[in-house]
Order: sequence, then C-alpha cells, then structure tokens
Amino acid sequence: MGNDSLTITDNRTGKTYEIPITDGTIRAMDLRQIATSKDDFGLMSYDPAFTNTASCRSAISFIDGDKGILQYRGYPIEQLAEQSSFLEVSYLVVHGELPTAAQLKAFVHNITVHTIIHENIKKFVDGFHYDAHPMGILVSAVGALSTFYPDAKKIFDVQSRQTQMSRLIAKMPTLAAFAYRHSVGMPYAYPDNDLSYAGNFLNMMFKKTELKYTPDPALEHALDVLFILHADHEQNCSANAMRSVGSSQVDPYSAVAAATAALYGPLHGGANEAVLRMLTEIGSVKNVPEYVKRVKAGEFRLQGFGHRIYKNYDPRAKIIKRIAEEVFEVTGKSPLIDIALELERIALADDYFISHKLYPNVDFYSGIIYQAMNFPVDMFPVLFAIGRTPGWIAQWQEMLLDKEQRIARPRQVFIGASRRDYLPMERRPA
Ligand code: ACO
Repeated sequence: MGNDSLTITDNRTGKTYEIPITDGTIRAMDLRQIATSKDDFGLMSYDPAFTNTASCRSAISFIDGDKGILQYRGYPIEQLAEQSSFLEVSYLVVHGELPTAAQLKAFVHNITVHTIIHENIKKFVDGFHYDAHPMGILVSAVGALSTFYPDAKKIFDVQSRQTQMSRLIAKMPTLAAFAYRHSVGMPYAYPDNDLSYAGNFLNMMFKKTELKYTPDPALEHALDVLFILHADHEQNCSANAMRSVGSSQVDPYSAVAAATAALYGPLHGGANEAVLRMLTEIGSVKNVPEYVKRVKAGEFRLQGFGHRIYKNYDPRAKIIKRIAEEVFEVTGKSPLIDIALELERIALADDYFISHKLYPNVDFYSGIIYQAMNFPVDMFPVLFAIGRTPGWIAQWQEMLLDKEQRIARPRQVFIGASRRDYLPMERRPA
C-alpha cells in the first residue's frame, strides 16, 4: 500500500495491519480484522456523540470552522444571502445546481400550489391544549401528514419524492402559522398564493381583519434571508436524525417529524431564546462588563457565543447583524441590540474569548430580530424548522440514493451485568 495508509501494530498479538486512508478517513470496518483470536469480534471504534466520525459522504454543505466558511453546494452563504431567494436556495440545496429561469418558475409554482393543508389537520390542531408549544404541535402535525399522503411511502419513486418535497417545503409554514394562531386563540389565516414564500408566512402569522395582508418588504426580505441562513448545516443533530430515521425507509413526513423533534431540544434549536433571556437579564449596557467577568469566572456561559465547529466568527452571524439594521428601520430599534453589541465588543477584545476561540454564532442576533418582528419566543425554533426543511430533504435524499448506506445501526460497548438467572420475587434481597 502507498503512503495513503495507516500502519497499525496490535500490541496484544504483535500483528501489523495496513489500513487505507481515503479523504482523511479510515473505514471503521477495516478495524474489524484486528482481532486477538478467531472468537474475537474484532476491533471497533468508540465515539459517543460522533465527535470524530464521518457518518456519510455528502455534497450538500461545506463548513470550514476555523476560517468561518459556509457554502451550500459550493456557493458561499454570503453570496446566496445577498443575491438569491429562499426558494432558489431550496432548489439548489435539494437538486445540487442553481435552477434555470424555467426550472425556478416551475419549482416556485409547485411549492405555491401546495401551501394549503387538508381541513382535517385544522381539527386536530384544534385539539391541542390552549397553551401547547407550537414546536410540539409542528412535530405532531408534520408527522401526521404521512397519513394524508400514503403515496409518500414510495420513497424510491422519483416523481413521488418530488411531490413530497414540494409538499413539505410548502406546508411547513402553514402548519407553523396554524400552530401559532392556535396558541394565541386566533382564527387560522389561509395561505395567500399571490404572496412570496416569506410574505405568505407573515400573512398566515399576523393577518387580522384586513381583506388582504400586505407584508412589509423589508421584513419579508429579512425573513427570507434568515430562512436562507438556516437551510442546511451538514451533519448536525437534526440532519443526523433525518438520515437515521429515514434509513429505515419510512416516509419523509415521519422522518421530518423526527428531525423537527431533534431541533426542539435547547442544545440545538433553542439557543436564540437563551440569548434573549440573557440580554434581558443583563438589562443595561452598563452591566455588561460585570456580566462578562462572571462568565470568565465560570459562573455561566455567554449564550450565542461559541460553536462546536466554528472557531471563528460564524458567517451567518455577520449577515444577521446586517439584516438586524434593516429590520430595526421598520420596527424601531430593540433595546437589547445595544447590550448585544457591547457584549460582542467587550468579548471579542478579551483574552478569555480570544484564547478559547469564542465568537458570536447564528443565534446571537437572530432572536433579537425575530422579537422585533413580533414573533413570540416559542416560535423561534419553529422558524428554524421552516428554514431547515430543504436541508433535511436534501440530506434524506442523498442518504437514500447512496449505495453505501443501509439502515443506521450503531454498535455498543456492553457494560451491563453478565448472564444471571431470574430470581422469583420472594428470593430477591429486600
Ligand atoms: N461562554 C463561555 N465559555 C465558553 C462558551 C461560552 N458560550 N462556550 C465554550 N466555552 C468555553 C468552555 O467553558 C470551555 O472552556 P475550558 O476549556 O477552559 O473548560 C471551552 O470554551 C470549550 O467548550 P466546550 O463546551 O468543550 O465546547 P463545545 O464545542 O463542546 O461547545 C457550544 C459548543 C455548546 C455551542 C458552547 O460553545 C456553548 O455552550 N455555547 C453557548 C450556547 C450556544 O450559543 N449554543 C448555540 C450553538 S449554535 C447552534 O446550535 C445553532
């Protein structure tokens, strides 16, 4: 074998093995041959939380965390946020290439005609408790879509896959807005297919008694960019859930319900809410230095700072900061933004944050914008889910078409009791 290999000596047996290195990885299955005897199962790698294990080969998102780079299908996130639209980015993420004018027109049309949901869905959204979290409703409602579209089971039928993709991207905002309207006791607002994707979502969220809702163009644009920034982020917790659940060959609605549930967790989709709470607790710019001191003393973490992958400024945070200014021109400035800016200024000049490579992440500014646009905190992860839907679909499809993928089924290191005999109740110790 050439230089692209790893030589391993097993000190238990003295045997040497040569294992190929491809794309900076070794195949975990190549370790299986390393065994002490015929009865030995063979060596496995142990990697809780997959911190150093590639679970797939993917062509969707590229991240260089040290340089602060994010690209979808090769296109820098900055260019897409500046020049593209969420539906065009959705096409790119799902299909791999930018669409022609005709392809985009057909794609937008397919999404737009699928925004309406079956009337029965309204009935079961009605059944939720009055204060149900909209993310809980979304998880259930998107999973329930599978019962309305039994053809979604045909996951290897290209045409069926395309239809489910259009339905999912189109219906997530409708389900999300219905979940919100239920939680505030307002009548559901139906989709308005004259509006853009983001504009229609604002309509379904905020329409009151007016005959036709007209979204503010600046807010519509800001929301569209926020959706672009959330469209995909390679193998994060929810993408992994989408792939893992989808690998059982279940329909995509059930797999998206699993991905949405993964996003519901505070370590994934809930950090922007924590930022908002933190800024409110700090209360004033003059309290920032004291707060930073307490973070450095290890009392708590600075929310919206730091990232497992980015060890530089999260490129999405930079774009969101700019969008915030556009939003505040319409909504008026949020009092929290001055606190956030001061926090960032002090932290970025501080040795602790510099040496730990802690920079603002995507969540640092997004919550402030959402709040200024009148979205309640409970809706923040729901907004994330709408933006991430094309990414989940792309990850799912890539997994399905990858000949190397099978049902996801990790191994374990068993640390429990060895075989023992069942004890009848009367013989068990008290
Ligand atoms: N404030 C202060 N110190 C921090 C922070 C922070 N926000 N984040 C990390 N550190 C410090 C840790 O204390 C640790 O210091 P030490 O080595 O001196 O003990 C070091 O930096 C490394 O921290 P880890 O927890 O090992 O880093 P990890 O990569 O596992 O964590 C995470 C990443 C969870 C995002 C972390 O930075 C964090 O808790 N940030 C705040 C929450 C947040 O903003 N989450 C949103 C992430 S973006 C997203 O999910 C969409």
